[in-house]
Amino acid sequence: MKRREFLNWVGIGLLASFFPIALAACSEKQSQETAETSIAKDIPSDVPDSSGYLTIGTTQELTENRYIVSNKSNIIVFRNSSNNLSAVSLICTHQGCSVDWKKSSNSLYCACHGSEFAVDGTVLQGPALDSLSSFEVKEEAESILVKVG
Ligand code: FES
Repeated sequence: MKRREFLNWVGIGLLASFFPIALAACSEKQSQETAETSIAKDIPSDVPDSSGYLTIGTTQELTENRYIVSNKSNIIVFRNSSNNLSAVSLICTHQGCSVDWKKSSNSLYCACHGSEFAVDGTVLQGPALDSLSSFEVKEEAESILVKVG
């Protein structure tokens, strides 16, 4: 065996011996990243407290916007002119589409088939026959809490 051939074989041998180590290092890093991503996805950002109340916003948000929407729980909270709070589901009782707040009429409108609901969830216009689900809501320490559990 010539010197050059010998060195080529040694080089290939060294590369081959380090390849599994490099591969394992990359795999371990990828596993850690995947695990971190999975953990992050598994941690819900909206978790009710031990009494079943979910914090969906602040008093300040409600005052500034007139309503607060929790897209994770599909709930909207309003404060009426008498300073009372109402929390209702954003899921239409007709066939399950999402309803949207209609500022011009201060109501919740379902674009699927035209149902309209008052901000307390009662039906203003069909085809929906049933009110939107409503939830207990309270204000505590500058937070708006809705009972979901
Ligand atoms: Fe809302 Fe039909 S699903 S009106």
